[in-house]
Amino acid sequence: MKLFLGLAPAALLLLLLGSATVDAFKTLQAKIPNGANVNNPCQAGTQWPGVGHWNKDGGGERNPFGIAFKSNGFVWNSTICQLDSDQDGRSNGEELGDPQCVWTEGGTPERTDGITHPGICEPVNSENCMRLNGNNIPCGSTTIKSAFGLLYVMLLANILVR
Ligand SMILES: *[C@@H]1O[C@H](CO)[C@@H](O)[C@H](O)[C@H]1NC(C)=O
Repeated sequence: MKLFLGLAPAALLLLLLGSATVDAFKTLQAKIPNGANVNNPCQAGTQWPGVGHWNKDGGGERNPFGIAFKSNGFVWNSTICQLDSDQDGRSNGEELGDPQCVWTEGGTPERTDGITHPGICEPVNSENCMRLNGNNIPCGSTTIKSAFGLLYVMLLANILVR
């Protein structure tokens, strides 16, 4: 009982940090075309909301697109649009549905479906992409993350129930 009460502030802090991260990438999503519409290159039918990060839910280390977007002042223009940040042969604009590099914030991109990832080389299983994506294993670490998620939920449940 005491242990769980002692952990309560830590859990609260985690929760707050978690929502701050979510706010950050939600704001950034709106600054790129189809930012909330990027397909998960690891799992068909799901999305990758934290577009600039190796972690699909945002936060942590930035992928090459996130690094480039940050160094472009978090501004979408033809400079970042024409780059091929993940080096998979398709420019950031082509990947995000703005092949002409004309999209501005609030507008509808030329294409809104089949949006591929600008920061993760695809196809992820190709030899070239395995080398480029390196040890960031964007497709691998779900088990560890779910284990932590489960632990976190169990911790919260304990605090509320007791
Ligand atoms: C794009 O924006 C960045 C950051 O503001 C700027 O340095 C760059 O010159 C811009 N590129 C173009 C083509 O306007």
